[in-house]
Amino acid sequence: MKFVRFIMKNAALASVPKHIEHFSKFSPSPLSMKQFLDFGSINACEKTSFVFLRQELPVRLSNIMKEINLLPDRLLTTPSVQMVQSWYIQSLMEILHFLDKNPDDHRVLGEFVDALVTIRNRHNDVVPTMAQGIIEYKEAFPQDVVTNQNIQYFLDRFYMSRISIRMLINQHTLIFDGTTNPVHPNTIGSIDPHCQVGDVVQDAFHSAKMLCDQYYLRSPDLVLQEMNKKSNHPISIVYVPSHLYHMLFELFKNAMRATIETHESSNNLPPIQVLVSLGGEDMSIKVSDRGGGVAFRRIENLFSYLYSTAPAPQIGEHTRPPLAGFGYGLPISRLYAKYFQGDLQLYTMEGYGTDAVIYLKALSTDSIERLPVYNKTALKNYKVSQEADDWCVPSKEPLDLSSYKVAKSTRR
Ligand SMILES: Nc1ncnc2c1ncn2[C@@H]1O[C@H](COP(=O)(O)OP(=O)(O)OP(=O)(O)O)[C@@H](O)[C@H]1O
Ligand SMILES: [Mg+2]
Repeated sequence: MKFVRFIMKNAALASVPKHIEHFSKFSPSPLSMKQFLDFGSINACEKTSFVFLRQELPVRLSNIMKEINLLPDRLLTTPSVQMVQSWYIQSLMEILHFLDKNPDDHRVLGEFVDALVTIRNRHNDVVPTMAQGIIEYKEAFPQDVVTNQNIQYFLDRFYMSRISIRMLINQHTLIFDGTTNPVHPNTIGSIDPHCQVGDVVQDAFHSAKMLCDQYYLRSPDLVLQEMNKKSNHPISIVYVPSHLYHMLFELFKNAMRATIETHESSNNLPPIQVLVSLGGEDMSIKVSDRGGGVAFRRIENLFSYLYSTAPAPQIGEHTRPPLAGFGYGLPISRLYAKYFQGDLQLYTMEGYGTDAVIYLKALSTDSIERLPVYNKTALKNYKVSQEADDWCVPSKEPLDLSSYKVAKSTRR
């Protein structure tokens, strides 16, 4: 019996590349916030959601699995990346198992929810495991610009794909597990149709403050202001509160660390100022600190997965959560903002402080998933080679102008 199972498992594994090839030919179908809400309210139909997901999840998984294979061999073969890849293969196979199942059978629908929960749990540690792979790669091999560029390009797309897959899984499992959220009964899955932005700002600030107090034994205060162009009410949007919380928590941790480290010898800490503003198109949140800022030249690095000024934490470390870790705070937060067509930008003045601005869409009709697709353009981006710069590189040595004088006088 054991032997038969072994043979069957290997046969299934052998067919994986064929499935990836097949499903990666489809483009993922981005959903709008409205479609997410419809799936979970008036039109809530578990059967429709099941039929959609058993096709869409393999499409999203396969599209990104094609790109994992384009990573440099030296990274692809690290034990961590191999492990992540095996999780993706396993999850893909588990969903494919439902392709020929009857959507009218309640047992099938129940098993599907269970399978999604298992998959979600399996992928919980993808980010730190992948980060570990990058650290292993960085330690073992010399860095080159092109490979770094490829890794950055890949990870932005890989993590964006992961955010989207988790969003689909969360919506289905939360909506169809037959219970309502006791703390937030009005949420639809993970979406709050009336997400009070100021409340999320306060929550994220207090969590970061607790961490900061534990680590530095003090923390700056918050000054929060709202500008609502539409009404006098507190600002609310249709959004995923956990995504907003994630971004704000990361920005507050950074702002607090910078504030404390630049005002080490001072008794007073300048507060962190937050301005939430709602217009016709954008809902923007500005987090301003006086933490000394960052040199303009370094801004690009701050969004890099290969760069952090904090020492790298070890996986499984049982110390308290650090205020700065893998250096993924900013790049992942920017992905959350971009996921529903927003953005996250830093405006920093070295010597003074930093403004970090989260831009989100004010209207739910504009909030549509932004998803990577594997195609020729993506493939081309992995093939970029290091070409000569088309701007002059300034010489480090001062130019000896006397030789020009001589040349000029001999010509006359
Ligand atoms: N408000 C800020 N003021 C000054 N420097 C900042 C600020 N925000 C970010 N930085 C710099 O950018 C780097 C990257 O920030 P990021 O949040 O991405 O990673 P991290 O804080 O190092 O680690 P973690 O993964 O825990 O967030 C930081 O290490 C810090 O040097
Ligand atoms: Mg950080």
